[in-house]
Amino acid sequence: MSAAMHPDYLETLLLYYEEEIEGEAYFAELAGAFDDQAHRDKLTLLARVERHAAEAVTPLIARHGLTPRDTAALVASGQAEARATAADWPALLAEMTESYPGYLRDFRALEAMGPPADRARLSFLSAHEVAALAFLAREATDPDQSAAPLRDYIATAPDTLVG
Ligand SMILES: [Fe+2]
Repeated sequence: MSAAMHPDYLETLLLYYEEEIEGEAYFAELAGAFDDQAHRDKLTLLARVERHAAEAVTPLIARHGLTPRDTAALVASGQAEARATAADWPALLAEMTESYPGYLRDFRALEAMGPPADRARLSFLSAHEVAALAFLAREATDPDQSAAPLRDYIATAPDTLVG
């Protein structure tokens, strides 16, 4: 293990990776619960953002020889969480606005725990939460354009970012 790696790094990286897989399933399932097509589309984009974030750190999972929990179990967990969530758009946005700044702090902390070779991809993982927060901020003022930060994130490849 590199001296530059925090002792909790690998466990935390694996947990956050698994949470993105669950998150993709959560948003995909939740999209089906909403009647408004614009809301469904935004939740589907959030699911794609979660997948893109997970794919960005997949090489790190492989490099460190980590074994995620079974994908089917992660998907089932995300879907169950979605089914326990009310299809109430303002309530969902309020909950996300409340919790996402803390998630971003957690992702930034993970960046600081990782070895230098991992930092570009960890930064890209953090950037998905920045994109989600930008979506939430725009949703309050300009909902027709709020999906732009999500589309921009999905359109960016991790290797083009400098960590
Ligand atoms: Fe996420």
